[in-house]
Amino acid sequence: MPDVKISPSILSADFANLGHEIRAIEEAGCDWVHVDVMDGHYVPNLTIGPGVCKAIRPHIKTVMDVHLMIAPADPFLKAFADAGADHISIHPEVHPHLDRSLQVIRDLGCKAGVALNPSTPANVLKHAMDRLDLIIVMSVNPGFGGQSFLHSQIEKIRELKSMIGDRDILIEVDGGITPITAPLVVEAGADVLVAGSAVYGKGGQATSVYAANIKAIKAACH
Ligand code: DX5
Ligand code: ZN
Repeated sequence: MPDVKISPSILSADFANLGHEIRAIEEAGCDWVHVDVMDGHYVPNLTIGPGVCKAIRPHIKTVMDVHLMIAPADPFLKAFADAGADHISIHPEVHPHLDRSLQVIRDLGCKAGVALNPSTPANVLKHAMDRLDLIIVMSVNPGFGGQSFLHSQIEKIRELKSMIGDRDILIEVDGGITPITAPLVVEAGADVLVAGSAVYGKGGQATSVYAANIKAIKAACH
């Protein structure tokens, strides 16, 4: 089984030093860099936009994994692609024309992802599977870092894994990931783990601390 990938969420990083915080987690061994974009409308928190994505892009050597928690997202897809996103994930709950939005993301040259809220069933993706590169299973209600993992999502991961079959689609699990919860979702079929607080803590820590945190999550999954 290939090693699980870790995508630390910069939501828990020191925002005054984002370039440094990104270089540090990459040096510490992360696989992707997860960027949580929130609009204070679709979710009750307001974070960053395409301008900040563009500014941090030169600091990312791995993959810029952009998770859009904004409504509407369609008018902003090009801005995030132009800012250098490798992956753009959107929520089907706010996309009446999900199929079209996913095709737009691919046409912009990015990998297309969908993020499912805890109450959204896996089968909303049944007819979109061929437009997808990535599925994010939200294991907390989106909006904030540091929330507790929702065990109800493990069954959804299993269901999605079987829906994917032999397609080239990765399952990413986002929210409440720790060395305790990580093995549960990997066993169910997760390929990539988002971890904000479990990697960054409150942010502004030494690279060696980040490396130990990433190693602890990966080690727990073996
Ligand atoms: C929640 C975000 C997550 C969050 C993860 O809305 O999408 O990426 O920051 O943070 P932790 O790992 O602290 O739950
Ligand atoms: Zn996220």
